[in-house]
Formats: sequence, C-alpha cells, structure tokens
Amino acid sequence: MTAFDPRALRDAFGAFATGVTVVTSRTADGAPIGFTANSFASVSLDPPLLLVCLAKTSRNYANMTGAAAFAVNILSEDQKDVSNTFARPVEDRFAAVDWRDGPAGSPIFPDASAWFDCTPEQIVDAGDHAILIGRVAGFENSGRNGLGYVRGGYFTPALEAKAMRAAGEADTRVSAVVERDGAVLLVPTEGGRFALPSAVLGEREPVEAIQAGVEGATGVAINAGFLFSVFEDRASGRQTIVYRAGAADGAPREGRFFALDDLPMDRLDTPQTADILRRFAAESTLGNFGVYFGNETAGRVHPLAGRA
Ligand SMILES: Cc1cc2nc3c(=O)[nH]c(=O)nc-3n(C[C@H](O)[C@H](O)[C@H](O)COP(=O)(O)O)c2cc1C
Repeated sequence: MTAFDPRALRDAFGAFATGVTVVTSRTADGAPIGFTANSFASVSLDPPLLLVCLAKTSRNYANMTGAAAFAVNILSEDQKDVSNTFARPVEDRFAAVDWRDGPAGSPIFPDASAWFDCTPEQIVDAGDHAILIGRVAGFENSGRNGLGYVRGGYFTPALEAKAMRAAGEADTRVSAVVERDGAVLLVPTEGGRFALPSAVLGEREPVEAIQAGVEGATGVAINAGFLFSVFEDRASGRQTIVYRAGAADGAPREGRFFALDDLPMDRLDTPQTADILRRFAAESTLGNFGVYFGNETAGRVHPLAGRA
C-alpha cells in the first residue's frame, strides 16, 4: 500500500470547492452540539438522503454517532464567523448564531442558505471518519447565497461573480483595506479627509491595478487577493471593488497607518469607506480572518442603501 504524505493528500482534496455546513445534534441530556463540515453531499431524492463525514477525533463523535437526530445547516455567505466558531474549541458555539429546534429536534439555523433536519439512516465506518447518512425529516431553502470553501480559504461565489461583472466596466475603481500589525493604511483626500488607497482599473486585472496603484502612490508594496466588497456608487454609477491586502515594511510616502481602534471615522471621504472600515474592524475583532487552515478569500456583497 502506498503511504501518502497526509498533508499533501489533504491539500489535494482541498482543491475540490465546496460549500460549508454546520452539523448539529443534541447530547443525551439535551445540550445542543455542532461542528463545521464541508464533507456534505446530497445522496438520494427518494428516499431523501444526505451524508456528511465526521472525524473520529471529534469531541462529539460518540454523541453524534449515537444521536436520534442530526441536522445539516448550509451556511450563507455572511456566516463565515459561524463556520469559524463551530470549527474551534469555543465554549458556547451556539451563542454565535440564531437557532431553533428543527422538526426532528436538532438545532437549525434560520439564517442559513438551507437546512435539513434528519434522522440517522446509516453510519458507515470509513477509515479515520464515519459517514453519517441521514434521512431528511424536514428542510427549508432560504434562497440566500452560500458560503464557499476551497484550498483552505473561504470564498463568496456571489461576490466573486459581482466583481467579475464590475471588472468588465472601464471606469471601475479598485481599492484596498491595507492592513499591517492591526493598523490600516489611509490616504489623504480633499478637505482634510481620508480614503482607502485606490486605483482606476483600466485594462488591468483588479489585483494588478491595486497593487501597482498603492505602491506607486505610497511606496509601500502590498499583497492583495482577498475580495472584501463590491459596490456601486448610486450617484456616479461607478463600481468599486475592494480587496483586503497585507503590506510590506516601510513608512508610506503618502498617507499613514491608523490603528483599528483609532480610525478617523469622522474624517472619511464617504459613508461607504466608513462602512467598510467598521466591518473590517468588527471582523478583525472576531478573529475572523484566515484563522482556520491559513488563508481565506473573504468578503460579502456590501450593499449601498436601498441597493444590493
Ligand atoms: C471549512 C471546514 C470544514 C470542515 N469539515 C469537516 C468535516 O467534514 N468533518 C469533520 O469531522 N471536521 C471538519 N472540520 C473540522 C471541525 O469543524 C473541527 O475539527 C471542530 O473543532 C470539530 O469540533 P468537535 O471536536 O467539537 O466536534 C472542518 C472545519 C472547517 C473550518
């Protein structure tokens, strides 16, 4: 038998893009339990069956494999923090999410993309995992966009699609939330205000445009790649694509780094910049960035008032 490097094998399995679910149940004395899983698959329509794989190392292995019911919640694109919470040793994972009991008695998340409450149909022993096959006793499909996961990072398919469309328009701008050591780079603009560093897209790829633009203007090399927001300015009709980026060392020629708890919120160029920085600061506090298997592709559609 060939012995593979487990890390290399896991990385190769990770090339398969999936959604993200939280599988829930209850212990014998009724406490809600749950863990993050991307090993979900639909199995059968008639009878209605699904599966998810549970590691034998899970602290909830005995509870999950012995339970009278379990539910699968397919996370929506703004539930990245829920995914992280249910993948970490957090004491009360359920404090991070709105939930209630599903028809078969397991916790379901009404804000998920969809949920399926199941009774166990079969448990298949499979190496270092068990395959839980469930029979769907009830389900709901909210129609929300799902959260994606590939190569150890999250992505938001709806946001990526929106960025692709925006990138096709000539006057699209690209900007970046450039972070270094818990501080964000802002550049001066009219009236003593501050803005996110940005660049006109032109004919370039968005990442290329913002990296060249920021380095040209400030002298600081940045590494952009994680999509954070895409929005349209209602007045101008202009699209903006916003990335998260890390910065190399060195003092910026223009602009300065502001600590996240000392951002000039009353001196920003637009309400959108304020929204973006507020969300960035909040998600940083949650430890929401790149915490699980390393990097991530973050972001969700950032709506303007009255417009998705
Ligand atoms: C995106 C993602 C997908 C995961 N998929 C699975 C999975 O399919 N099966 C599994 O057993 N663990 C999976 N994990 C790991 C568990 O969520 C993690 O080990 C969790 O801490 C287990 O909790 P427990 O020990 O309390 O059951 C995944 C983690 C992440 C972040």
